[in-house]
Amino acid sequence: AVTDKGNYKHFMLKEIHEQPAVLADCLRAYADGGALRLPETLDFRGCRRVTIVACGTAYLAGLVAKHWIERMARIPVEVDVASEFRYREPPVPEGTTAIFVSQSGETADTLAALRYMKGKADRIVGVVNVATSTIARESDIVLPIHAGPEIAVASTKGFTCQLAVLALLALKAAFDLLGRDPAPDLATLDRLPGLMNEALGAEPGIESAAQELALASDALFLGRGAMSALALEGALKLKELSYIHAEGYASGELKHGPIALVDRDMPVIVVAPTDPLLEKTISNMQEVMAREGRVVLLTDAAGAKAAGQGPVRVLTMPEVPAILAPMIYAVPLQLLAYHTARLKGTDVDQPRNLAKSVTVE
Ligand code: G6P
Repeated sequence: AVTDKGNYKHFMLKEIHEQPAVLADCLRAYADGGALRLPETLDFRGCRRVTIVACGTAYLAGLVAKHWIERMARIPVEVDVASEFRYREPPVPEGTTAIFVSQSGETADTLAALRYMKGKADRIVGVVNVATSTIARESDIVLPIHAGPEIAVASTKGFTCQLAVLALLALKAAFDLLGRDPAPDLATLDRLPGLMNEALGAEPGIESAAQELALASDALFLGRGAMSALALEGALKLKELSYIHAEGYASGELKHGPIALVDRDMPVIVVAPTDPLLEKTISNMQEVMAREGRVVLLTDAAGAKAAGQGPVRVLTMPEVPAILAPMIYAVPLQLLAYHTARLKGTDVDQPRNLAKSVTVE
């Protein structure tokens, strides 16, 4: 049954391993033979800006989507946490599409932000897992993420399926606004389940990295571009599950503060697939190593080669096209947090003080 753990020790591990299958379902629901199959009403013509509002991990999915939508559709994207957005009561210019991302579809702050946008945004899009949820009911357009029930408090497959749907939405926006053909990217997205299986194959190396991480009291996660959101997600997962103090930063911010914390006791997890920003991130990594920080580098074979001998550990991912990197690199970060927590003996599926769905403020 969907609500039993099967052969897995925890729901979280089961849900991590379900990702290739549920992502395949999700992609199948929205793309067919090189064509997008999104609701007709999701038409971005006339859209001048996008506002994405969410909480927790769903907010971090929104940060990734900002990169995709701005790059592909060339319209500005604002991303905010719902608890700030709702009380700030921001002005809403004409031509705004508002997107609310929520696994449960019941998060109180996200729902309040959605209600604030009613009558102000041109259209309200709900990206939810629970298709019968309040956020789904109150959205003009609902895009279910098809992740299946997510039981573990910390979101895993919910996050990567949110990302997949947001990537497809970015392709739709780029087509509607610029006539950009989605077919090549859809062909790339078809490779996602297979590549994610390969990423899951890195689990043994991640388990040994987790043995070292479990001894640390603090950790730093760094990344650039869309990977800066993944750095935040890696830190969020680690602190939620293992109770190790962790911070995520855009790599370029390293010298504006967090580098002061770096010493030989500080593991620094660098999320850096081969891309045009890799060199910059490698130079940040060298700054960390010069202060004896222990770098754990998440990259691909070419990135490992470029980084040289410095990192204490390299966790090698498959080489992936840029659009797939946020989903693929979520996997080792989830596994790293999971195994660190398991080794520490914390309650992985229900970490202390946290709730799966925050329906009160
Ligand atoms: C809680 C959960 C997180 C989740 C967040 C937003 O904090 O523990 O895993 O990311 O709520 O939930 P939502 O259902 O709106 O995505």
